[in-house]
Amino acid sequence: MRKLLLLLLSSSMALGTRAQNTAELSTSPSGRTISKHIYGHFAEHLGRCIYGGFYVGENNTKIPNKDGIRTDVVDALKKLKIPNLRWPGGCFADTYHWKDGIGPKNQRPSIVNTWWGGTTENNSFGTHDFLNMCELLNTEPYLAGNLATGTVQELADWVQYVNFAGESPMSKLRRQNGRNQPWKVSFWGVGNEAWGCGGNMKPDYYANEFRKYSTFMTNWDNNTKLFRIASGANSADYNWTETLMKNIPSNLMEGIALHHYSVINWNKKGPSTDFTEEQYFATMKSASFMEELVNKHIAIMDKYDPNKKIALVVDEWGGWYDVEPGTNPGFLYQQNTIRDAMIAGLTLNIFNNHTDRIKMANLAQAINVLQAVVLTNEEKMILTPTYHVLEMYNVHQDAEWLPLTIKTNNYSLGNDKLPAVSGSASRKDGLTHVTLTNIDAKAAQEISINVKGAKYKTVSGRILTSAKLQDFNSFENPNKIVPVTFKGADIKGDVLKVKLPAHSVVALELK
Ligand code: AHR
Repeated sequence: MRKLLLLLLSSSMALGTRAQNTAELSTSPSGRTISKHIYGHFAEHLGRCIYGGFYVGENNTKIPNKDGIRTDVVDALKKLKIPNLRWPGGCFADTYHWKDGIGPKNQRPSIVNTWWGGTTENNSFGTHDFLNMCELLNTEPYLAGNLATGTVQELADWVQYVNFAGESPMSKLRRQNGRNQPWKVSFWGVGNEAWGCGGNMKPDYYANEFRKYSTFMTNWDNNTKLFRIASGANSADYNWTETLMKNIPSNLMEGIALHHYSVINWNKKGPSTDFTEEQYFATMKSASFMEELVNKHIAIMDKYDPNKKIALVVDEWGGWYDVEPGTNPGFLYQQNTIRDAMIAGLTLNIFNNHTDRIKMANLAQAINVLQAVVLTNEEKMILTPTYHVLEMYNVHQDAEWLPLTIKTNNYSLGNDKLPAVSGSASRKDGLTHVTLTNIDAKAAQEISINVKGAKYKTVSGRILTSAKLQDFNSFENPNKIVPVTFKGADIKGDVLKVKLPAHSVVALELK
């Protein structure tokens, strides 16, 4: 018997086949909802994200727009069901004085965008433009307040300006500028990256500043309770989270942020398309690190807030590479390949599976910057592989989370290894959705999922992949990578079998 087993094992190794991945899907009620806000986006005054991306100006006759907002972009983002949009930064937020961006456009001051390329910012896109655009997009605004170069009064006034329906100096000013009813903005950031571009502060100093600012952020309307988000840790800076959790009372803070980019090395990021498998592996390693990161930050939060009242908000995540050759280094414009689809699939699975604490996240950034979902070139617009992953995964928004426990093979390169398959699952309107990502650059992975008596009759799905990891959608070939019907899944009794090709993202629907 032992001999036979050894023979079978050695012959399977010789053929290069791998052990099958296995998983269990629990379909009993979990009592947890995947917050749709995990699928949020980010729009900074950086490069061509706002100007040329979202906004082309009211007098642009070449590019169809409504009040200067590109209609092609609005249509694409509405299909994506973006739940929230963070603005105006990023680093830019802590240099932004919101009163510069209201009133007649020809009277607004021009400033220098010191963080991003030293360009002239003429403030033609301001508070009204952004909040009206959010209404067009059917998305919730997330305003990032200026704590570093602003004042408590300035931020308190911004809250009053956008949220107060009654009579007050700020609501009067808003009405003079043409908006009668308030926009009712719940999500507010209080500074950004306070440990870096937001003032190089120490965590205990920032905690005190946060307490002061958030005290004066008033709930102007009973139906718009403010959700105040503290500037969070830089990746694995656990001391930052610990200090904020220890020093900020829960009646002043609804969320605490975390920023983590999938980057190979900050001094040697590598190209966005022409990368090697070693560079791909290094990016996947940085992306996979999100699992350890959120677990450790959550463990700290659990110590101070065992009832999970305060949310972890990963309001900047995504891949960061060298800019495209010939483009302004301060504009952070990069292409988007299957590698980015892998970052998105794997990261969203991690967020879905920590839905009891992660209530919000923002991919950086929506258009023409970093891991964008949309790229524009004058009147042309294309959707990136990342766009398609977010669209495939949007079935999880506000759905009941279902635990999916995976035992996965490794994706190995040299002496290093990473979990190859990640997944998450949810249920809504009687349908179960399972999303799976296989980051293995070369090997297909078969996975056998035990659905434990769920009695599904059919499975259907879509897949996103391409022949090469380096493939991307271009303005010349915009539909090279799009989701197509997936035929590699089969359900029989309790067993759902799925054959995941190398470097693929699959979304399944079970009935
Ligand atoms: O997303 C680009 C920049 O990255 C943001 O402005 C900043 O917050 C982060 O360092």
